[in-house]
Amino acid sequence: MDLRINSFDDYKRVYDYSVAEPENFWGSVADTFYWQKKWDKVLDWNFTEPNVKWFIGGKLNITENCLDRHLEKNADKTAMIWEPNDPEEHYRSFSYKELHFKVVQFANALKNNGAKKGDRICIYMPMVPELAIAVLACARIGAIHSVVFGGFSAQSIADRINDAQCNLVITADGGFRGSKDIPLKNIIDDAIVQCRSVNRIIVLTRTRTPVSMIKGRDVWWEDEIKKVETQGNPDCPAEPMDSEDPLFILYTSGSTGKPKGVVHTCGGYMVYTGYTFKTVFQYQPGEVHFCTADIGWITGHSYIVYGPLSQGATTLMFEGVPTWPDAGRFWDIVDKYKVNILYTAPTAIRSLMSFGEEPLQGKHLSSLTKLGSVGEPINEEAWHWYNEKIGKGKCPIVDTWWQTENSGILISPIAGITPTKPGYATLPLPGVQPCLVDEAGAELIGNGVSGNLCIKFPWPGIIRTTYGDHERCRLTYFSTYKNMYFTGDGCLRDEDGYYRITGRVDDVINVSGHRIGTAEVENAINMHADVVESAVVGYPHDIKGQGIYAYVILGTSTHDHDLTRRDILQTVARIIGAIAKPDKIQFVSGLPKTRSGKIMRRILRKIAEGDIANLGDTSTLLDPNVVEEIKQGAADL
Ligand code: WT7
Repeated sequence: MDLRINSFDDYKRVYDYSVAEPENFWGSVADTFYWQKKWDKVLDWNFTEPNVKWFIGGKLNITENCLDRHLEKNADKTAMIWEPNDPEEHYRSFSYKELHFKVVQFANALKNNGAKKGDRICIYMPMVPELAIAVLACARIGAIHSVVFGGFSAQSIADRINDAQCNLVITADGGFRGSKDIPLKNIIDDAIVQCRSVNRIIVLTRTRTPVSMIKGRDVWWEDEIKKVETQGNPDCPAEPMDSEDPLFILYTSGSTGKPKGVVHTCGGYMVYTGYTFKTVFQYQPGEVHFCTADIGWITGHSYIVYGPLSQGATTLMFEGVPTWPDAGRFWDIVDKYKVNILYTAPTAIRSLMSFGEEPLQGKHLSSLTKLGSVGEPINEEAWHWYNEKIGKGKCPIVDTWWQTENSGILISPIAGITPTKPGYATLPLPGVQPCLVDEAGAELIGNGVSGNLCIKFPWPGIIRTTYGDHERCRLTYFSTYKNMYFTGDGCLRDEDGYYRITGRVDDVINVSGHRIGTAEVENAINMHADVVESAVVGYPHDIKGQGIYAYVILGTSTHDHDLTRRDILQTVARIIGAIAKPDKIQFVSGLPKTRSGKIMRRILRKIAEGDIANLGDTSTLLDPNVVEEIKQGAADL
């Protein structure tokens, strides 16, 4: 069977084959990677425990696929380009040979610091090449990385370190992001007070912010590299990993308070991210791929680091933000490096749109051939702007739908092959079997239906477990509907069988493409001494997609509301991080509750949306007067 996809008919043929013979299909895909030992069996699975295993008995190391295997023919090809935050600072670039050298070198530094296979290592770094190097060096020695996004607070880091019992932390003195300078090491110091498992912190020099280095615990990245040099830069053979050994943990929010440590494994993750990168973007040798995500999120893991590198691509990593020093930053980068593939989020597109045409003056953007979108539904206006102003009407747009739990893209057009429709993620990739179900769990057959989006067959990148709590994984994803992975998203399948994701159906808000659990924000707000109770919902936000709306009941003491509002924001930033700060806080004297004491979020959501004419049935409310007061207060906000 020829698995190449050069036409829409090819796609349909390959898709049908992948459903009819999933093991043969994925076996052939996996054959395009380098294995130290081939697998004995492609797949074993059940969604009840769940227990999913891919490429059973196979041995590999993902870094041999991302680095070593390119050395024979493409040693001098550019693996990674790095553009700093400040356009005045010099860029850096690494050939495959150079990146291999750096990774091996830092892997040896990790070993010198006692790191070994199976250890959990927390990485809290700015978007500098050393972040990618640290990630790959962990993979090289079989340590499990847990990257924590640089915007998270000390408390969030401590929770994640403790959950995974990390023994080593890799960080930097600070990080540059736009006009800001984030004191990463200081934040780590605050976090580490609560973390007894950590015995070593490796600190990279980036901002030269003063830091405190504790003797016997904290070491400088640069010193550790020098030690490896004095050891004569020995080789660091890639640790043989079982296909199902964990590769990394990445925390993500759900409907309950505590973030979950999503676990991905070596073999399946490698095959899935490599295959989807190559297929969705139709990557051609020599093309420059620019994914604007942060490596602290799954998009960065899969489509800055592992996916592109396993395919021998040139990946571009950008330290800064789209609007600094001005809103032409992305376009300058595209022109500077002749970027071919741009993969970004609707929130960035909407934000850049709001600056009008001016930032596009003098930008050529003529190197672009393919555009991607990820993280949230893309509204039609943003889609058209992206298509016309950035793609000049000649670049296919791939609206890629997937989740942290999936490793890689599940539903998406294949660039230049699948006919697109604005707002639609279109069709499942080969090997992906989505289905829509109604509330009762019955599968909705045929087209022109809406329901909850599930996947009924495993793909190699599916979540294996939530770290340290398998039952939580089962409950969250595999118990709502029997024998299905439940995504938490609502979805429409139109008359053509095209999928359009309509957004979360659980208590998760998607703020600028980042998942934030309402319960988590409520917990943080409730930490504030004056707060009695709170309820958080999402509401439509022009730039962020969804904003965070908090209804808050204060204690009886008199208050300066503006001050309290600022204090609450400060509290949330401290407990979770600035990304979780509510956009609106409304003080209320009560919350709409049922007689059994359950908050009726449906009503709060409607009020936050400004849709107060359609509150629906309020007859089960304990105190209907509360709603009138909240409506009034919302109007005054
Ligand atoms: C949630 C997953 C996976 C990368 C970044 C986000 C929403 C993601 C799309 C899209 C509509 C999308 C879903 C999903 N989402 N991509 N193309 N169209 N919605 O990862 O933080 O795990 O969030 O993001 O609601 O469930 P994440």
